[in-house]
Amino acid sequence: MSSNHTVEPLPLVSRQATGLKGRIRVPGDKSMSHRALMFGAVAIGETTIRGLLEAEDVINTAKAMTALGADAQRGSDGVWRVQGVGVAGLRSPAKPLDFGNSGTGVRLAMGLMSTTPLTAQCIGDASLSGRPMGRVTVPLSQFGTSFETAEGNRLPLTLKGAKNPVPVTYTLPVASAQVKSAVLLAGLNTPGKTTVIEPTPTRDHTERMLKGFGAKITVEKKADGNHITIEGQHELTAQNLDVPGDPSSAAFPMVAALITPGSDIVIENIMLNPTRTGLIDTLIEMGGNIVLENRRLAGGEEVGDLHVKASALKGVTVPAARAPSMIDEYPVLSVAASFASGITRMEGLEELRVKESDRLAAVEAGLAANGVSTRSGRDWLEVDGGGAKGGGLVVTHMDHRIAMSFLVMGLASAHETKVDDSRFIATSFPDFTGLMNGMGAKLTPAT
Ligand code: S3P
Repeated sequence: MSSNHTVEPLPLVSRQATGLKGRIRVPGDKSMSHRALMFGAVAIGETTIRGLLEAEDVINTAKAMTALGADAQRGSDGVWRVQGVGVAGLRSPAKPLDFGNSGTGVRLAMGLMSTTPLTAQCIGDASLSGRPMGRVTVPLSQFGTSFETAEGNRLPLTLKGAKNPVPVTYTLPVASAQVKSAVLLAGLNTPGKTTVIEPTPTRDHTERMLKGFGAKITVEKKADGNHITIEGQHELTAQNLDVPGDPSSAAFPMVAALITPGSDIVIENIMLNPTRTGLIDTLIEMGGNIVLENRRLAGGEEVGDLHVKASALKGVTVPAARAPSMIDEYPVLSVAASFASGITRMEGLEELRVKESDRLAAVEAGLAANGVSTRSGRDWLEVDGGGAKGGGLVVTHMDHRIAMSFLVMGLASAHETKVDDSRFIATSFPDFTGLMNGMGAKLTPAT
């Protein structure tokens, strides 16, 4: 566990609410926030970032960049400034880099560091230390980087960056934006062309943002998938960035408003990149009254406001092909599904097994504890609708999205739901409780 958590778990309860109301903003997008800090760190000049997600995962990335020599600090005006050191300028940190709970933080940073001759130890909390790192150490080793890892290619690990990196062409064996990004970032300080072949498209923030920083990066759509090529050892230019609201955080108030009778809310300034909007598409298909207002372009991304009203939902089948565009949203979709009529079937879920927790198992256990029946296999889940009774205790397994999903469930359940530990919500959405209660939710510490 990272040092900024209290030692004792913080259980929370959620009680039935009578209709959420208000206009809210959720914090900045987590994927973009990590990337803005990291790309700023290896650009030339000072990058400024407005709207950075100030949550534990991203703060750990800011500390890591500072420890690598690229000072990243918040100004008193709320703007973050990163003093970039150039694509070859990172240096060995004096202490181990602690990435806390964040897979994105550690995997992208490993890519960024891997082709500079530095030595760095990477550590994380118990959840992160249980997650697979072989998916990045295998392709990064092909550049000439060496790793000493704990058993099973896990953290803690020591990375020794390649002195004379060689470019790599790598076909992704899993649909993972983290792996894609780690390889592309390794390519930044490698002579020649590094190519990632991505058979299934995943979030493309790395490609878009690197282009904005002036990287020589191209994306070609071919029969076997996207071919993304970066020409290395070209300097990046510092940028002024604005981070829009995180659709994966907006997912919680959005589902809360759909399932809580009488709700009518607007969630402003949400990033609507099509590689991230699978949940919105699915909820609209289920009959959700969600209207996208005020659509516009901001900082190279599509952005809009989500107007959401309580709705009668119906069960649907969510195809495997949609999974990458809503990979973090299945826990809260499962909560929505339990209030729909009929059965919701979700396919292509194998990656849920290796998130902050085994999310398929955690969701099923949480639903069962609250009177919802499910069936599942290795990579699929069916949830029976008809409403959750509530009354159950949910084990969150150090997973922020499990905690927030089941607190949303309690708002529409006959009996209160309780989560065993809410501390990890701070990894992505520090003011979740305050924001929800401000709209009429009833989330309170458990006695
Ligand atoms: C992310 C990619 C996804 C996602 C994570 C953020 C990113 O992980 O689950 O929350 O910012 O690249 P995978 O790459 O493991 O699918």
